[in-house]
Formats: sequence, C-alpha cells, structure tokens
Amino acid sequence: MSAHLKDMIERAAAVRGHAHAPYSGFHVGACIRAESGRLYAGCNVENAAYPQGQCAEATAIGAMVSGGDTKIAEILVMGDGAHLCTPCGGCRQRLSEFAGPEMPVHMCGPEGLRQTISLGDLLPYAFVADNLED
Ligand code: THU
Repeated sequence: MSAHLKDMIERAAAVRGHAHAPYSGFHVGACIRAESGRLYAGCNVENAAYPQGQCAEATAIGAMVSGGDTKIAEILVMGDGAHLCTPCGGCRQRLSEFAGPEMPVHMCGPEGLRQTISLGDLLPYAFVADNLED
C-alpha cells in the first residue's frame, strides 16, 4: 500500500470519530489529497432538520477550498457496514467540480481499503463547467 493511502486511512479513521451522526448512526470519514500534497479530512455532520445534514466528502471539500487548494488528486471515504461506502450522487457531483474523471476514489471499511473506483466510473457524463460554455 502506498504511503499516501496509509496516511489517508489514518486521517479518515480519526475524523470519522468526530462524525455527528445521531440520526442515522452511520459515521463517515473522508480524506482528500490535494495536488499540492496536502491532506484535508472531514466527517458527516447531521442535523435535526434532516436535509441540512452534510456528507463527509462535502466537509472535506470545504476544508480543502478553505485551505487554498482546488485540485483533488485522490479521495478516500471510510464507512462501516457490509456494503461499499460509495459517495452519494450529490457528492460525486461536488467532487467533479475539483477533479477529472481519472481521479481515484478509495472506499474503505474500518478494517481498511475495500475498493478503488475512478470518479468517471462513478459519475459518467458529468455536467461540468465546460457545459456552460457557448
Ligand atoms: N454519508 C456520507 O457522509 N458520505 C457518504 O459517502 C455516504 C453517506 C452520510 C450522510 C449521512 O449523514 C449518513 O452518512 C447516512 O446517509
């Protein structure tokens, strides 16, 4: 396993411990490696008004942009359960704002890496900034 991935797993596991998920009980941690090499972590933050909740990926993206980075080299998401913790549809779109289709999305359980899928495979035919050009 690459050193990047090991660090990202550690960061995602640590931030997952801070998840505010009293409604779903589903705790998620995410870690972005920006092209600068810097790591940005985020957890899900739920709300009593359910639609106001925020996914871990969105929190990590907010940390990245706030930290001055705008290009994602790879992202790792960690969640529990038998199923693969894939980013939701909205987060696939959020990620596509800052990454190309080749960007690896690593999905982990608490035990470690389960699968890696490119953003383009998760979100084919993405609507991106180019679509807004004449
Ligand atoms: N969640 C994430 O934070 N990221 C994902 O990739 C999947 C789902 C959160 C949203 C909500 O707080 C909880 O998991 C259950 O859907």
